[in-house]
This record gives sequence, structure tokens and C-alpha cells, in this order.
Amino acid sequence: MLDKTKRGWFKSAVLYQIYPKSFQDTNGDGVGDLKGVISRLDYLQKLGIDGIWLSPVFASPQKDNGYDISDYCAIDPMFGPMEDMEALIAEAKKCGISIIMDLVLNHSSDQHPWFREAIKSKDNPYHDYYVWRDGEPDCPPNDMRAAFGGSAWAYVPHLGQYYFHQFAPEQPDLNWENPDMRRGLYGFIRFWVEKGVEGFRLDVIDQIAKEPDNFITGNGPKLHEFLRELSREAFCEEGLVTVGEAWGADVERAKLYSAPDGSELSMVFQFEHICLDQEEGKSKWEAIPLSLPKFKACMERWQHGLHGKGWNSLFMDNHDLPRIVSRWGDDGAYRVKSAKMLATMLHGMEGTPYVYQGEELGMTNIRLPLESYRDVEILNLYAERTAEGEAPEAVMEKIYARGRDNARTPMQWTAGENAGFTTGEPWLPVNPNYSVINAEAALADPDSVFYAYQKLIALRKEYAVIREGSFTLLCPEDEQVFAYTRDLGHAHLLVAANFTAEDAPFEIPEAFAGAKVLISNDGAPGKGLRPYEAYMLYIED
Ligand code: GLC
Ligand code: CA
Repeated sequence: MLDKTKRGWFKSAVLYQIYPKSFQDTNGDGVGDLKGVISRLDYLQKLGIDGIWLSPVFASPQKDNGYDISDYCAIDPMFGPMEDMEALIAEAKKCGISIIMDLVLNHSSDQHPWFREAIKSKDNPYHDYYVWRDGEPDCPPNDMRAAFGGSAWAYVPHLGQYYFHQFAPEQPDLNWENPDMRRGLYGFIRFWVEKGVEGFRLDVIDQIAKEPDNFITGNGPKLHEFLRELSREAFCEEGLVTVGEAWGADVERAKLYSAPDGSELSMVFQFEHICLDQEEGKSKWEAIPLSLPKFKACMERWQHGLHGKGWNSLFMDNHDLPRIVSRWGDDGAYRVKSAKMLATMLHGMEGTPYVYQGEELGMTNIRLPLESYRDVEILNLYAERTAEGEAPEAVMEKIYARGRDNARTPMQWTAGENAGFTTGEPWLPVNPNYSVINAEAALADPDSVFYAYQKLIALRKEYAVIREGSFTLLCPEDEQVFAYTRDLGHAHLLVAANFTAEDAPFEIPEAFAGAKVLISNDGAPGKGLRPYEAYMLYIED
């Protein structure tokens, strides 16, 4: 077990993201709950993870599945009473698993008491906790768009004012210029630290320092000043782990966020690699095939850029992204092999790996009829695009490829009814492939994706070169093979992965002759790489 009182424990850790609505239901209402998480701690312990990033479980009207919080210090009854949260924190700790909560500090729900006050009158003490501009109906202050479609401004007739919302209108943006508002947020954070929470994921944290008059949302001029204050005032304990979601982070900015002196956060989620397979300057819905050389160059830039100067997180999946095996692997004939290949490629790098629920089973995307989708982003996209004249079938293809509900279908535990997720009606359909892809089957099969993840997690603990070694990319221009070495003193690691369904030429560098195979998804490494083959070799000189 890691010593979590020590600053920097997260550099040896592997974390696991739970989307609680879809993880495990225990009372038959079709929605996952905290008791469900507790009931699966043994599974997570078996996988070997050190902490759980729990997507929001706070009181919420659920317009955006909990990313619209109406009470930061209460648990939504749908997930259980506060006692269940306390029990989860305590039980997880016994298993060496930290609980990392998901804080949404950029906006609240419009049902949060602050906003309910703020909207009453311009002179209400809470009015300035949000971002307002005077205006006339149908003439918003400017033409900024919300991430989920439509204008970013919502009009309130009795005030003669618009409020700013970067996401849904039910998610009004908080005004970080107001010091009382900021102090209020710090109070909520301290509440959870005192309950034993050991870290926080900070939702869209790069967007807090917005300046809508200047069309600035991400990376506002005061962002890092705000973060340093947040860190000083709310994250005072040495051992707290903090990870900021920052779509707008580049390497230089990430060095600030994750400065080794701990003045801001432990690490960031940056998305440069995730955005490579979309048309430049367009939204994620305009997908293009991934160029492997570009992907490798991007990963290399981050491995070099943060080495000794900051800290990165390693991920390919989360609750906002399509399933990685469907995206960059092959969810057909090579599902198991390509899922292991992607994991091997990622887990050999420097950073803190995150496994998203079901990724360790090789869970896949889903295609649903429009009426079965629940995500506000998907539903708005369909309405907006079809109204603009885009063919419904073309919009559906985009949703199948990129929609967030791909990642949110219930966790597949067994081949039994509803995949063992619920005895009731699941809130979002279970992927019909659960009869084949499920945790029970994976645990019974020594060659499963699950055991590959378990092994990779264990290797990180065992080999310092995986945690700390320097990174060298091999064959950067190769269109099929992603290969790199890591070096730490006398220890050397080689990771080689074939991203395609065809054989690929590859020569193991001479320095690795006679090296030990740490992990492989296709038996002993031979000449070249077979389809989706991947392995890690280790040698000391
Ligand atoms: C983040 C969350 C996403 C949410 C959005 C607004 O990107 O990950 O799920 O919809 O912020 O809070
Ligand atoms: Ca439930």
C-alpha cells in the first residue's frame, strides 16, 4: 500500500474512475449507488488501483448527470444517504483505496441556494456570485455559444439581465472575481477533506477565469492566480491529490498547473492527444482517422515536456469520451488483443494512469435509437443539427462515434439479467454484448483484458523505470508501430505496439537482446509485430 500522507504518492498510483450512476445498483431503481460501489471494492482491490475518482454524487437536479450541483455538502438521495458516503470512504481506506471527489467549481446548478438568491434581485448579496450583464430580450451581450448548444447567455426578464452559462442554461457560471464566492467554495472543499476524502478532480477548471466580454472562456488571465489561492486555502494537506480537467492546457500551461512545488495542482487532464482525430478547428463531432505519427509526436512532446518539470495524467477513456477499444482499437475480431495493446502502450509511460470503469473489460461503444439516449449534449446536438438541415442518419453516425453515452452504459458485471447491474430497469440501456463482455467472464479467463490491466498496474509498482524513466520515441514516422524506450540508470524498458490489423515490420533494438518479457498479448515476441501485438521488455546493463 502507498503511504498517502506523503506528498507525491500520486506519482506511483493508478486511479480508477467510477461513473456512479452506471456502476452498480443495489436497490433496483435502475441507478447505480454508493452501496453498489462499496459492494465492488474487492473487485477494485483485485485490479490493484490506489484511488477512485468518483464522478459527482452531490445533490443535483441531474440535468448534466450531477455536473450541476445544487448542494456541495449533501449526497444526492439517488446515490444513498450521507452515511453511505462515510461508509464508502472508510471501507475504501481499509482496502488502500482513496476517494477522490469530482468538484464542479466553474458553475453550479440553477437550483443551488446561491443562484436562487442571486436571481431574486440585483442587490441580493448573492447576485454577484454569478456572471450578469444588462440587456434587452433577444439581444444577448454577444454571440458566445454554450458547449451544449445555443447561446451562452440566458435572459431573466424581471432583472432585465442575462446570466452567463458555458454549459446548459441550468448550469450558471460562478463568478470567480467575487472573493466571498471563492471562500464559499473553499468551505465546501474543507467539509469533504474533514470527512476523509483524499483528493479532488476539478471539473473544467481552466474555464473558471472567464472574461465573457473579451470572449475568453479557457485560460483566462487570472486562472493561475485563482488556482494558487485555491490550493493555499483549500488543499493544505500534503497528501491530497488534485487533478484539473483542462481542455485548453498545452505543455507550458501544464507545467504551471502541476508545478513540482505543489503551488497549484498535482496534475492535469490535458486533451491534446484526444483531439487529434477530429478536423482541425472543428468540434469533436467532425471525426477523422487517427494519424499514428501525429499521435506519437504528441505523446512524446508531453513525456519530454513534463519530465522533471510537472506531472501528467495518462488516459484514453472517461465519461465524456467514446470507448477507446472502439475508437483506436478494433471492437470486432481483435477486441481483446487491441484493448490490451492500447493499455500496454499507455501504461508504459510516465504519469498517473486512469482506468475508466469497464475499460479493464474492453467494453465497447453502443448504437441506440435516439429516444434511448439520455445525454443532454447528444439530445441538443441532434435537435440543433437536424434543424440546420443535416441528415438525421448523418447526425446519428456522429452520435454513435462520439456521443458521451457510449461510456455511460451500465457496467457489465455478469452474463445474467441487465448484466448484473440492476434488478430493475436500467436508466440507460445495457450494451447487449454483456453476455460476452462482463467482469465475471473476465475474472474466469487468465487471458482477459482485466488481467492485462492488473499486470500493468502491478508492473508500475514494481519497476521504477516505468514510474520515473526518461522517454525515447522509436520510429516516429512509422504508420503502424508505436514503440518507445524508458531509461533509468541501469534499467531499460522497451514498449512496442502494433496499432493495425496487419503484420508490421519491427526490429527489437540490440540492447534488448535477451531481455525479460514483462507483459505480452501474443506469446513470445518474434520478428516484426503481429496484428495489434504489444509487449514490454526489460533489461539491466
Ligand atoms: C466536464 C465534465 C462533463 C460535464 C462538463 C460540464 O467536461 O467532464 O461531463 O458535462 O464538464 O460540467
Ligand atoms: Ca440505486
